[in-house]
Amino acid sequence: MDGNGRWAEKNNLTKIQGHNQGMYAMKEIIKRSDVLGVKYLTVYAFSTENWKRSTEEVGGIFKLAVKFIAQELKELHENNVKVNILGDYRSRVPEDAVLSMDKAVETTKNNTGLQFNIALNYGSRAEIVRGVKKIAESVKNGDINVDDIDEDMLSMNLYTGAENGNIPDPELVIRTSGEERLSNFLLWQVAYSEFFFTDTLWPDFTPDEYEEILNSFGKRNRRFGGR
Ligand code: IPE
Ligand code: MG
Repeated sequence: MDGNGRWAEKNNLTKIQGHNQGMYAMKEIIKRSDVLGVKYLTVYAFSTENWKRSTEEVGGIFKLAVKFIAQELKELHENNVKVNILGDYRSRVPEDAVLSMDKAVETTKNNTGLQFNIALNYGSRAEIVRGVKKIAESVKNGDINVDDIDEDMLSMNLYTGAENGNIPDPELVIRTSGEERLSNFLLWQVAYSEFFFTDTLWPDFTPDEYEEILNSFGKRNRRFGGR
């Protein structure tokens, strides 16, 4: 979800107002995902690199996260949406935001509809290192042998793995605002994902543009290296 800052600048608003508008865009994308029967929607809400931003902006983003859960949790739950959090959100993230996330996860844990995954204080390299350490511990404890380590095992030890019910690898990654980079997002998981880049700034990203991208994704021929 990139481009909140540029959207704010373009509209002579503050950065926080840009993030606020971005949150509205996100709500609409969640709703359309649900309507279209998307099974997993993952948003990159806050990266481990985003701590470099001003204290004011960082504080504002987490306040918005709290506001989002306060406003939306009831409706998400009524719509059978299951919320998962990907990332090291228990460290460094303000306590009220951690509590909001925990509440969202706990409330929706048995839901069977759309899985809405929020990457929060997430970084993929750190995620992989963490997974490798978990596996190394199992070897050290004698629970597994080095030869038992395979791709599935590493997958299962990522944030998207067993601790969040084994979320499948994304089929499609969309980045807005004209930037064509991954920025440490799901590096392991996107091995075979399709990528779409749009110049639209995130707050201007509409469910209709989203649906157009999904339709064009549906027409792509995915071969997974088979030919
Ligand atoms: C994305 O918008 C918001 C976050 C993921 C924190 P940006 O704040 O990165 O917007 P630009 O890149 O400054 O336009
Ligand atoms: Mg940006």
